[in-house]
Amino acid sequence: MSPLLVTRTLPEDATDAALRADVRHGLTVQPKWLPPKWFYDARGSDLFEQITELPEYYPTRAEREILATRSGEITAASGARTLIELGSGSSEKTRYLLDALMPSVYVPVDVSESALTQAGQALVEARPELEVHALIADFTAPLALPATPGPRLVAFLGGTIGNLLPDERAKFLSSVRSLLAPGDGLLLGTDLVKDERVLVRAYDDAAGVTAAFNKNVLAVVDRELGADFDPDAFDHVALWDAGQEWIEMRLRSRVAQTVKVPALDLAVDFAAGEEMRTEVSAKFRKDGVSAELAAADLELTHWWTDAQDRFALSLSVVR
Ligand code: SAH
Ligand code: AVI
Repeated sequence: MSPLLVTRTLPEDATDAALRADVRHGLTVQPKWLPPKWFYDARGSDLFEQITELPEYYPTRAEREILATRSGEITAASGARTLIELGSGSSEKTRYLLDALMPSVYVPVDVSESALTQAGQALVEARPELEVHALIADFTAPLALPATPGPRLVAFLGGTIGNLLPDERAKFLSSVRSLLAPGDGLLLGTDLVKDERVLVRAYDDAAGVTAAFNKNVLAVVDRELGADFDPDAFDHVALWDAGQEWIEMRLRSRVAQTVKVPALDLAVDFAAGEEMRTEVSAKFRKDGVSAELAAADLELTHWWTDAQDRFALSLSVVR
């Protein structure tokens, strides 16, 4: 068994500086907002895994169905020897791809150190022949990948691309493109536009797990920056924006309150009913995905959906 290699591409103080900058900016503009990457401390990653098992949250099951049935085709089309996965989390669905592709090297990339090391350890134990080189890194920043054999396949699953705003997506796709050489590919998971009720239920489940996940960002800011957010003083909100075709998660202040953030020397006023955006989760159509890929000089060659057309996996290549 090869040992699990873990590389942190950003020093811990850079992560701290990024959190401070995001919180200072997001809490001092109108409307207030926080970027979704700060959900994922150990508790947030655990809550996300619970979300993937909720009856209302279909994307994980739909994408697993596609991977389980199409991994052979993905392998035939890509033939990659290195699999790089961005926002890999638990790497749970990735096993279908690993089984079919049998790459020599797997490079999971995630901001969540707990998710990355747990998944990586389990993988090296289960697959002694696989070299796993985990990267603790922010995929929205330039990535320094280890030198690994080509062809390379970059996988970005789960619909996580939908958590980026349109301009962030364009920047992200061109930075992925810059990692690829002719013959390399991008396997992209995108959740699809569908009935509003199905979408809203997926982000506002009856058991309240998504609400706890949403409020977890407040616990992260409390712990890391000494803030005094009271999660009980906020309500979870999930709504469909039909113009943007995205789900928006917000936290709505139940009362007029002032939250202190001592590490930033900041006192932030919330009006009763004021809403702060914590995530967008964009839903896609084939033409839009194809156009966004083309704008980054990637050519869509395959489009697979689950039997109910809820979710799509696409393969695009560098010509
Ligand atoms: N791919 C998995 C997990 C999706 S959850 C699946 O499909 O189930 C989103 C994952 O992306 C989390 O593990 C989170 O920690 C990670 N993530 C979110 N923003 C990130 C960023 N900017 N850089 C790196 N990882 C990020
Ligand atoms: C990780 N990402 C694709 C999830 C989504 O569906 O947008 C995060 C999530 N937010 C609420 N529930 C799940």
